[in-house]
Amino acid sequence: MTKSRIIGTGSNAPERVLDNHYFAERMDTSDEWIVQRTGIRERRMAEVGQKWSDFMLPACNKALEDAGIEASELDMIVVGTQTADTMMPSGGCTLQSLLGAKNAAAFDVTAACSGFIYGLNVADRFIKADPSMKVLVVGGEQISQRIDWDNRNTAVLFGDGGGAAVLVASDSEERGILATTMGSNGDLGHLLHVPGGGSAKPRRSDDYDQVLETIHMDGRSIFKNALKAMESACVKVLCDCGVTKEDISLVIPHQANLRIIEGLAGRLDIDMDRVFVNVERYGNTSAGTIPLALDEALRGGRISEGDLVLLTVFGGGLTWGAVLIKW
Ligand code: UT7
Repeated sequence: MTKSRIIGTGSNAPERVLDNHYFAERMDTSDEWIVQRTGIRERRMAEVGQKWSDFMLPACNKALEDAGIEASELDMIVVGTQTADTMMPSGGCTLQSLLGAKNAAAFDVTAACSGFIYGLNVADRFIKADPSMKVLVVGGEQISQRIDWDNRNTAVLFGDGGGAAVLVASDSEERGILATTMGSNGDLGHLLHVPGGGSAKPRRSDDYDQVLETIHMDGRSIFKNALKAMESACVKVLCDCGVTKEDISLVIPHQANLRIIEGLAGRLDIDMDRVFVNVERYGNTSAGTIPLALDEALRGGRISEGDLVLLTVFGGGLTWGAVLIKW
């Protein structure tokens, strides 16, 4: 069966850098606590007046340039985000217009942090069904919009940024996406959610408070669920392909917390030198973490032709997934 393959990537983030001291000056936290508990040292945050598409459009253009194709050649744009410029049109349609991708169907997938991995799954299935398709998969957030700046439990964790990848049918039977898996558990949705702004708590209600539109998280429970779900997703794609952990060249896990990443590496019994980490510079960019890390890994020479690369993610929903790629 046809395999899909990533032929170009790009990433970007707003220029404004906020280090941990910025937060320590404004709330009851410290650089030491944030580094020890999360590994995060700084993150990027959009300026007031800056929009999601202002930094996501350059990421898409870089991916197209890297792939050597024109926007007009795209058949589909799939975007993982919850923080696009507008609720409607979707982030996909906004990017389609800005890119001039007039032949592409464009839409968003709402899977929180897992949006890019869910998007890769969608692209892979469409390309298998129609190998002539060229698909741009995007993941990125302006998550600073969803932060409660008075809550130290969440404010220090997140950052803005993201990336994109161009997928086409592989010209080889060996190279490309080998296996994918996705999972969800809506029963535990309340552990990581934005309670307001939807039909359950509409803005029009009398008791509406803006804080309802910020991220609410039970950090400890999410930590445990993230480890368990990413481990089983990784094991599933490895088993599906008869691949062992020794064969893996690089794991690119969701960048939410260095302790989760190290815990996952331990459970998979993979040394940290085969695990990509950039959480210290970006924090958790939600759907942006995987494409940002993938692009940095490629540009940093961490991935070569023939390498087996394992992507895995976990996020609100709850949602999770993994993708195994032979580069
Ligand atoms: O992308 C979606 C997936 N998200 C994640 O994967 C995040 C998963 N969760 C985590 O990364 C961690 O649970 C956190 C980083 C959110 C929290 O780390 P923790 O080691 O689980 O800390 P905790 O929630 O158990 O809190 C320990 C203490 C508490 O104080 P008490 O109750 O022990 O007195 C918190 O109030 O740390 C306190 N605390 C802070 N202290 C200083 C919480 N946030 C802060 C802070 N600065 N920013």
